[in-house]
Amino acid sequence: MRLVVVGAGGHGKVVLATALEVGAEVLALLDDDPAKWGASLLGVPVAGPVSLFERFVQEDARFVLAIGENRLRRRLTVLLDGVRWVTLVHPRAYVHATASLGEGTVVFAGAVVQPSARIGRHAIVNTGVVVEHDCQVGDWVHLASGVRLAGGVEIAEGAFLGAGVVVIPGKRVGRWSTVGAGGVVVRDVPDFSLAYGVPAKVQRRLQEEL
Ligand SMILES: CC(C)(COP(=O)(O)OP(=O)(O)OC[C@H]1O[C@@H](n2cnc3c(N)ncnc32)[C@H](O)[C@@H]1OP(=O)(O)O)[C@@H](O)C(=O)NCCC(=O)NCCS
Repeated sequence: MRLVVVGAGGHGKVVLATALEVGAEVLALLDDDPAKWGASLLGVPVAGPVSLFERFVQEDARFVLAIGENRLRRRLTVLLDGVRWVTLVHPRAYVHATASLGEGTVVFAGAVVQPSARIGRHAIVNTGVVVEHDCQVGDWVHLASGVRLAGGVEIAEGAFLGAGVVVIPGKRVGRWSTVGAGGVVVRDVPDFSLAYGVPAKVQRRLQEEL
């Protein structure tokens, strides 16, 4: 598989490492930060800005987004409409055969996705995350390292759960909401909200504009 990784920051480095582990031939990284152009990550060159993607489409490459920020990842999904996305699962992650993963989603090393869990498109299941049975995780969600979702949890589109967040069974985190690192969700978090703490409490409303 010939692959282009979009995003050459810290998150890009881990997505790249995951792609190399599954045996992809990574042609290049793309990033809009000129300071990164001409450098390389894990031996793969940063070829230039994201606008170069069409050149690689012509070379029959497939693509993966490697940007942790959910709104930016969503915008790039629209901008790069029509490219062929890959779904990546690190060889040392576990995804049960009845779980589903949408296109563009990346599952990092040490993550566990249990039976009947459904994960949408362009989601990030970061290092060591646990997604228990029957969870529903929407498009563009980012579950940061060490997040643990108990059974039947719903994480709606675009939500970001910081490192180590725990969600107890059956609870919901709303669309484009954030739960701060280490938070424990014991009540539903509404859409477009910032919550943190143990137990997690809503601190303020977030902007709805995407
Ligand atoms: C919650 C978060 C999004 C920031 O929210 P914010 O409103 O901008 O927070 P600020 O940094 O302005 O801090 C405001 C207050 O919240 C507290 N706070 C911030 N994050 C907190 C957290 N996760 N848990 C508990 N309290 C937190 C701060 O200590 C501060 O308290 P104070 O007013 O008493 O001094 C951020 O702190 C966070 O947890 N991000 C997750 C990062 C992460 O896990 N990244 C993973 C990458 S893989």
